[in-house]
Amino acid sequence: MAYNVDGKKVLITGGSSGIGADLARGFAEGGATVGICARRTDRLTEVLEICRKANPDADHRMWTIDLSDLDAVQPFALEADDALGGIDVLVNNAGIPKRRKVTELRLDEVDSLMTINYLSPVRLTLALLPRMLARGGGRVVTISSIAARLAPPSEAAYAATKAAITAFVESAAVDLWDSGVRFHLVNPGIIETELFDLPDNDASMAGDDVPPLPPAALTDAVLKQLDDDTFEINVPDWFKDVIAGKAQDTGVFLAGSAAWLAQKQAAPQQA
Ligand SMILES: NC(=O)c1ccc[n+]([C@@H]2O[C@H](COP(=O)([O-])OP(=O)(O)OC[C@H]3O[C@@H](n4cnc5c(N)ncnc54)[C@H](OP(=O)(O)O)[C@@H]3O)[C@@H](O)[C@H]2O)c1
Repeated sequence: MAYNVDGKKVLITGGSSGIGADLARGFAEGGATVGICARRTDRLTEVLEICRKANPDADHRMWTIDLSDLDAVQPFALEADDALGGIDVLVNNAGIPKRRKVTELRLDEVDSLMTINYLSPVRLTLALLPRMLARGGGRVVTISSIAARLAPPSEAAYAATKAAITAFVESAAVDLWDSGVRFHLVNPGIIETELFDLPDNDASMAGDDVPPLPPAALTDAVLKQLDDDTFEINVPDWFKDVIAGKAQDTGVFLAGSAAWLAQKQAAPQQA
């Protein structure tokens, strides 16, 4: 079922930088009207300008909002739906990382990760679903993570939030399979964004093992995913083989990950 984003109304959370900002550009270049939201007004304004240049005829919008304020999410969803004239595509993208060994995690960090990476997109999705269903359809794209599938070291809290949103999306997709609302899951590997520069995080363990991709590679993959009506994609695609390997024997996979981690941690001392 081909899906053309031309003329569609698209709401993208976390549109002020990285993946969300580039998705906004990509959807606008495809002819969509884009709504973006995040906390940094100055950065949203820059992205809105890019969208206006890409598709000058559309009435692109932006909202400054902290999506971890859960009580604000439903009113915002309805306001954005009204302002855009009915959202065709919701992109749940806003999220924060946490790279830290499990024994060093703070409880308040664990809670705030779950709030922004899981509870908030669930609230937004549940707020918009009735209207999408009443209009006969829509697309819900959720930017999860390879972390949801691969148990990366030092990412227990983060990976759990992404596993939670992944499970939510999978079950929701089954519930609404023939409703006209389609769900899509996106698992980025390493995409070059500010997520790796945020304070209070350890350095990424992936290092040179996974070369980072530019956000545009992710945007291209998502637009193709919508067009192909593919439920789940990994970016880069080769992660699907690693995920399949883990599914064969999780214990063996985890033992291999622990050996890889030990080797990495020993490497600086050997140098
Ligand atoms: N980059 C990767 O390799 C990678 C890999 C796997 C998954 N992902 C996922 O991709 C998504 C986008 O991340 P990114 O890599 O593009 O990082 P990013 O550049 O840091 O973007 C994160 C976005 O989320 C927004 N955001 C964070 N907290 C928010 C809050 N409380 N309220 C509203 N907006 C909030 C940020 O905007 P403000 O700061 O302006 O609020 C920003 O626009 C995340 O869900 C992340 O987990 C990324």
